[in-house]
Amino acid sequence: MAIRLIVQDPDPVLRERAVEVTKFNANLHKLLNDMAETMYDADGVGLAAPQVGISKRAIVVDIGDENGLIEMVNPQIVDATGEQLGPEGCLSIAKLNGDVRRAQHIKLKGMDRNGAPIELEASDFLARAFQHEIDHLNGVLFTDIAETIYDITNRPRPDGE
Ligand code: NI
Repeated sequence: MAIRLIVQDPDPVLRERAVEVTKFNANLHKLLNDMAETMYDADGVGLAAPQVGISKRAIVVDIGDENGLIEMVNPQIVDATGEQLGPEGCLSIAKLNGDVRRAQHIKLKGMDRNGAPIELEASDFLARAFQHEIDHLNGVLFTDIAETIYDITNRPRPDGE
C-alpha cells in the first residue's frame, strides 16, 4: 500500500464526471488499498478516487463506527429520505468547512472490489459521508451546495482579537 497525494481544489480532476469501473483487477485493488491508507493517514472519514487524481467511480468510507472500512465501486444512491443539516469538510479543500443539507437515510447499490453487487443502507453521518463521496464522482464539491461556508484556519479568537 502507499499513501497518495490528495489533489486540492481547484484541480480540474475534481470537476470531472468519473468513469464507471469495468475492470476489477489488481490495479483497482491497489487503488482501493491506497485510497484507504491515504484516508487514514489524513484523518479523513471518506475519500473518492478523483481525490487521488484517478477519475474512476470508486470510494472508501470509514466514519469510525462498527461498519469499519467500506469500499464501493460504481456506487449509486437508489433511495433517499429525510433531511439533515450539518457540517462537512473535505480533504481536497483544506481551509473550509460548511453546513450542508443532505438526505438523512439512503439506500445504495454498487459493487465490491471483485465486481460482486452490494447493497447498503446508511443513516445520519454515514449517509452524509456517502453522499459527499458520491458527489465527488460527479464533480461536485461540498462548497457548491453548502448553505454556509466558514474558514477554519482563521477563526476569530473568543475575545474578538
Ligand atoms: Ni471531499
